[in-house]
Amino acid sequence: MNRFTPAKPAGARSVDEITGSRRLRRMRKADWSRRLVQENQLSVNDLIWPIFIVDGRQVREPIAAMPDVYRLSVDLAIKEAERAAKLGIPAIATFPNIELSLRDQTGSHILDPDNVINRATRAIKDAVPEIGIITDAALDPFTSHGHDGILRDGIIVNDETVAQVTAAAVIQAAAGADIIAPSDMMDGRIGAIRDALDANGFQDVAIMSYATKFASAFYGPYREAVGTAGLLKGDKKTYYIDHANSDEAVREAEQDLAEGADMLMVKPGLPYLDIIRRLKDEFQMPTFAYQVSGEYSMIKAAAANGWIDGEKAMLESLTAFKRAGCDGILTYFAPTVAEMLKG
Ligand code: PBG
Repeated sequence: MNRFTPAKPAGARSVDEITGSRRLRRMRKADWSRRLVQENQLSVNDLIWPIFIVDGRQVREPIAAMPDVYRLSVDLAIKEAERAAKLGIPAIATFPNIELSLRDQTGSHILDPDNVINRATRAIKDAVPEIGIITDAALDPFTSHGHDGILRDGIIVNDETVAQVTAAAVIQAAAGADIIAPSDMMDGRIGAIRDALDANGFQDVAIMSYATKFASAFYGPYREAVGTAGLLKGDKKTYYIDHANSDEAVREAEQDLAEGADMLMVKPGLPYLDIIRRLKDEFQMPTFAYQVSGEYSMIKAAAANGWIDGEKAMLESLTAFKRAGCDGILTYFAPTVAEMLKG
């Protein structure tokens, strides 16, 4: 066999000569030194848990595309909120699956003070006052076409949608929501919601803007969870941001802050870490990522196939959000990771 033996260059330098004796591996040599120099840490205080709510009692419906995630009736949602509070999770975010007969062209059921979301807010506030409740003021679970806005002649009409979303936000605040998180991306929604909350005495209710919400393929499993998958025709490109854009995302965030947003969100999460870092550097505001359903399901599916270590991938992805500059993360992994962090 003719093996090739590389020749050392004449006067070859030693590694210490090459590195000037700087060896980055020194601090990685042991667990104690790695812990000592670790820059970012995930804590239970970073977690917001999105949960799905349905009508009924003792309902716990699995969602095929989201293993270990369920649609819960309000009575069981209270139990999960209690569990979350005990684990130290600061807040939950609620999303409804509304029966089809209640969905219409304008999403009018969002204005019912007794819809399942408002009932859940009241019940959870009553039973678990120490947990924060975040509600989405978007219309998509309430419309017969699955869009986040009012659809007229094939167009999502901006200003009429803003009026509807704003009225919904005030009703959600009256039910006890602590943070209104509008995810619809209509122009002017943040300022309109702020004005309406203040006019109705809800100065203390905060707004988390889904400031940079991208038109994304990663929302697929969520649409099964809230039952919009079969309804939605076309796409959301006339209101969500083109996933190829970054400067536009900064302009959206700037606008929402000028209108009164207290917190910013980037959605989806992991494919958009560059956006998180830009927003944090540019605005120094509380910044959140939504690790969306598709991101969750990819990790669960690969782990179920034995292709990756699901727990490690979960922790790595969540820590990446901290490294990118996030103050917190909306994640379906919240109770799992909270239990791990505790143990
Ligand atoms: C729409 C909305 C979406 C999500 C939450 N609210 C996106 C969509 O259906 O277009 C996605 C959440 C997820 O994927 O986990 N207002």
